[in-house]
Amino acid sequence: MSNGKVLVTGGAGFIGSHTVVELAAAGYRPVIVDNLANSDRKVLAGIADLVGYEVPFYEVDCTDAAALDAVFRQEAPFAGIIHFAAYKAVGESVERPTAYFLNNIGSTAVLLEAMAAHPSGRLVFSSSCTVYGEPAHIPVDESAPIRPAESPYGYTKQACERLIGDQVAAAPGFRATLLRYFNPIGAHPSARIGELPIGRPNNLIPFLTQAVAGLREPLTVFGDDYPTPDGTCIRDYIHVVDLARAHVAALAAPDGDERLSVYNLGTGEGASVKEVVAAFEAATGRAVPHRMGPRRAGDVVAIYADAQKAERELGWRTERSLKEALADAWRWQEQLGR
Ligand code: UD1
Repeated sequence: MSNGKVLVTGGAGFIGSHTVVELAAAGYRPVIVDNLANSDRKVLAGIADLVGYEVPFYEVDCTDAAALDAVFRQEAPFAGIIHFAAYKAVGESVERPTAYFLNNIGSTAVLLEAMAAHPSGRLVFSSSCTVYGEPAHIPVDESAPIRPAESPYGYTKQACERLIGDQVAAAPGFRATLLRYFNPIGAHPSARIGELPIGRPNNLIPFLTQAVAGLREPLTVFGDDYPTPDGTCIRDYIHVVDLARAHVAALAAPDGDERLSVYNLGTGEGASVKEVVAAFEAATGRAVPHRMGPRRAGDVVAIYADAQKAERELGWRTERSLKEALADAWRWQEQLGR
């Protein structure tokens, strides 16, 4: 039985690939669009292993309106669309702001136009807790104010949220769900798919696993003089499989009165950088080479999610622990080899 086709832009990426697998497991028929700018064809083979068939794949850039329209003409109608395709490196966005505006905002505008022209179901959009900046209260819920973005990357997430809201207002019958992710980590427990950072990782977990594998110098902990119990920053690390399942729940949710919904996706628990290092060592038995270093510009001190709205309205909650996520991240790194 099929719940219908779902277009997944960025479906060869980290969160996209895990979501494709969970969609297939839930009886949807995913269709991947990805320009492979920050992913690899090998991911498609990993997905095929896990779902048992080759998921239709179009090597298309979502800013290319003609190419994207051709995919819609071939594959629509869709039961829903999940838009992951975007650049995501904060530091790079500071160096290349125009690229981030063109790609992240441009692709969303092009996709919305294609959706307006073809039967497409609901849009589920990949947003970020970065929209909250340094929140006044933690855990942070969806009513917290949006703060001026710290980076062009953060600004593109805010702008896309705004654009999607404007489109909901303009187009009767159009529905969208904005999902604000906290810190996605881990990999599929099979180690067939995972995160594939190109070059030097900026995010904590891929850097940590590469340092443990001996591929990088020791991890630098960015600041241990913050006003937190152990002095290091606090984040809400969510297993990528839990996060992927939230997208399935968002698609499957019955239509409510509101045509635009927004949900925080996190575990509801904060962990400091030092706690992550200790949890990794406990989960894997491997020592993490690390040293204390200065603060990184733009880091918030502490943020974790109040994700009760997603639990209430989507019937979704996280099921995997930080240790499981770290063990899965390490299993993935180990099979990648050196
Ligand atoms: C970062 C972005 C966020 C974005 C997300 C996407 C910033 C300020 N925020 O989140 O906007 O949505 O990535 O992936 O860049 N850390 C170390 N050493 C390292 C790397 C990280 O100590 O080598 C610490 C950081 O200071 C932070 C925590 O680990 O406290 C997590 O960092 P990271 O994985 O980069 O995620 P965020 O900064 O939370």
